[in-house]
Amino acid sequence: MIVKSHLKHYEVAFSNKFSFLLNICGIDNRYVVIDDKVYKLYKQQLSCLMNCPFLVLKSTEKNKTVKTALNLSEAIMAFPSKRNTVLISIGGGIIQDITGFAASILYRGIKWIFIPTTLLAQTDSCIGSKTSLNHGGYKNLLGTFYPPEKIFIDTGFIPTLSRKDFFSGVGEIVKIAITRGLKGIAEFERDALSILNGDQKSIRKWIEKSLEVKKQFIEKDEFDAGERKLLNFGHTFGHALEKTSNYAVPHGQGVSIGVLIANNISESRGDISPETNVRLQKLIVPFINIKLKSEYFSDEYFNAIKKDKKRQGISLAAILLRLNHQKHGLIEAHDVQEAEIRRAADAILQLL
Ligand SMILES: NC(=O)c1ccc[n+]([C@@H]2O[C@H](COP(=O)([O-])OP(=O)(O)OC[C@H]3O[C@@H](n4cnc5c(N)ncnc54)[C@H](O)[C@@H]3O)[C@@H](O)[C@H]2O)c1
Ligand SMILES: [Zn+2]
Repeated sequence: MIVKSHLKHYEVAFSNKFSFLLNICGIDNRYVVIDDKVYKLYKQQLSCLMNCPFLVLKSTEKNKTVKTALNLSEAIMAFPSKRNTVLISIGGGIIQDITGFAASILYRGIKWIFIPTTLLAQTDSCIGSKTSLNHGGYKNLLGTFYPPEKIFIDTGFIPTLSRKDFFSGVGEIVKIAITRGLKGIAEFERDALSILNGDQKSIRKWIEKSLEVKKQFIEKDEFDAGERKLLNFGHTFGHALEKTSNYAVPHGQGVSIGVLIANNISESRGDISPETNVRLQKLIVPFINIKLKSEYFSDEYFNAIKKDKKRQGISLAAILLRLNHQKHGLIEAHDVQEAEIRRAADAILQLL
């Protein structure tokens, strides 16, 4: 799959049983950055990469900072090939964000290749060009648009993911299925059980499907000025939950819960029927394995949604699902009230 970008076109290649190594082990001027868990679990399979300098990084939100990106830049600067170094990044969204950011600023951009190892990164974050770092208590405050040269997806990394992280990736898949309306929902329903059981064929099918759909959005609106915003379905409510749970709720599971909250708002507005809401709950809830706590929905939650504490009481923007209208699908609503979100969040607390 080729993703067309204003910055440079880049390829997503599917690899089997780590066959991507044939393409990257021959790169002499490489500098590998690898997630610490992936390193421990896969160092034997990836051994051909380990005879050149490499860096093992812990994937925590705390580590997704400018400091880590600058340390990485300095390590590459000390490397003989300097600006010709090819940065090879192996890990989930956190490693992607740190390495993508460092690659984008060093010498105004060095080459990087990404091998996503989480379902979330394989199914969603690996394309779209975004790199983001946390700063000053704000998540993803700093960032650039800088796609890799190439992305290799190998589902051989998936079986070792924790259930929590596996479900996190499914959250983005369900979101994509819903962007395609009733057709997408029915299609996901057919495969949900095999995905839940970790069936590699179904997982691979949905990775490809999700990337195809995301590709269509980002090729139309790479810099997030319009249509791409629809991909933020579930995100406004999910991001705030990530924050108030101190990241106990991972990104994709926050998205799933955010979709449930958004759908409850849609139902109370008459934009989807109660039957559709229940149908989607039945589809999504099996892929959530965290116990929601009422304190996650404290005032801090609503402040995180509003970002600015002084703006209490005003309407908020969110992406909502609308099926009971002639023009159906996802829409950007600008009139969401705090009371509506509170009611929906209460209902979801009861559900989970
Ligand atoms: N740049 C973007 O476009 C974009 C989009 C969405 C999310 N993100 C960011 O991505 C991050 C979340 O990424 P993520 O969900 O991939 O999580 P992650 O990178 O934090 O990885 C989750 C956990 O899985 C472990 N891990 C990774 N691969 C593994 C494997 N194969 N087997 C076992 N364990 C493995 C990691 O060590 C970590 O503990 C967030 O910081 C989010 O903001 C970025
Ligand atoms: Zn997301």
